[in-house]
Amino acid sequence: MNITAKTKICMVIGDPVEHSLSPRMHNAGYEALHIDGHYVYVGCHVDVNHIEDFVKGIRAMGIRGVSCTLPHKLAVMPYLDEIDDIAQKIGAVNTIVNENGKLIGSNTDWLGILEPLQQVTDLPGKRVAVLGAGGAARAAAYAVTSQHANLMIFNRTKEKAEKLASEFDGKAYALDDYEAIKSADIIINTTSVGLKNENETPLPKKYIIKNHIVFDVVYSAHPTQIITDAKEKEAKTITGIEMLLHQGFAQFNLFTGHDAPKDAMRKALV
Ligand code: ATR
Repeated sequence: MNITAKTKICMVIGDPVEHSLSPRMHNAGYEALHIDGHYVYVGCHVDVNHIEDFVKGIRAMGIRGVSCTLPHKLAVMPYLDEIDDIAQKIGAVNTIVNENGKLIGSNTDWLGILEPLQQVTDLPGKRVAVLGAGGAARAAAYAVTSQHANLMIFNRTKEKAEKLASEFDGKAYALDDYEAIKSADIIINTTSVGLKNENETPLPKKYIIKNHIVFDVVYSAHPTQIITDAKEKEAKTITGIEMLLHQGFAQFNLFTGHDAPKDAMRKALV
């Protein structure tokens, strides 16, 4: 262990936070680059009611970088010095960087969606079905429209789909409009269906075809039902671990100034 009084602290905050894999991922990156004496990454349980005090603590202690999970992604926003344009558009901050006392909020979640997709397909002109209309759906909507894909939002509460679609120039549908989902090239699940109950899926298997790319951004230890079904249909699949890794690679760069050692960080998670 190389930690000294000069070591800079980075952390993930959440409520709960104990399940987070981010400390493992970032610390593996520091070790791989031999900068584990310069940076250490921990988890911190922050009650969202104490978020203003926590932000004061970032300044008081000179904490270098903070990764935010829900609900802190929204709650920190009023207390930062600057929020970059992308985080403003997505409406959430998952990354805080402390630049000599100035706290800058940004968002790397959209890169966690964009980069794994770009590894398997070209996005311009593709039809993308985003299932859900919450925070993760906003990051997905930003990611795919930034590459001129055609956005389709499907949600149980259709009014929310309509609101999100109007902001990102997409089309809104009910979540059970399965034929419309089937007509897409890419399906991105951002709903929490499948997270609590492993056997549940937002899309019946018969509507998945071999040509689909199916991305479940929800991270879970076991493959979710929609991923299992897509694999059985021989569709291309991308799991939530890819989102976690790619948003983390971008954060690593913002916190340390180094390119993320991707293999080492990936190895720490699998
Ligand atoms: P996040 O920010 O992580 O995306 P969220 O804002 O709570 O989380 O959004 C959860 C999404 O999952 C919403 O789109 C929600 O649909 P509603 O807007 O209709 O609530 C969707 N969702 C959650 N449970 C669901 C269920 N049982 N069936 C269908 N959709 C569900």
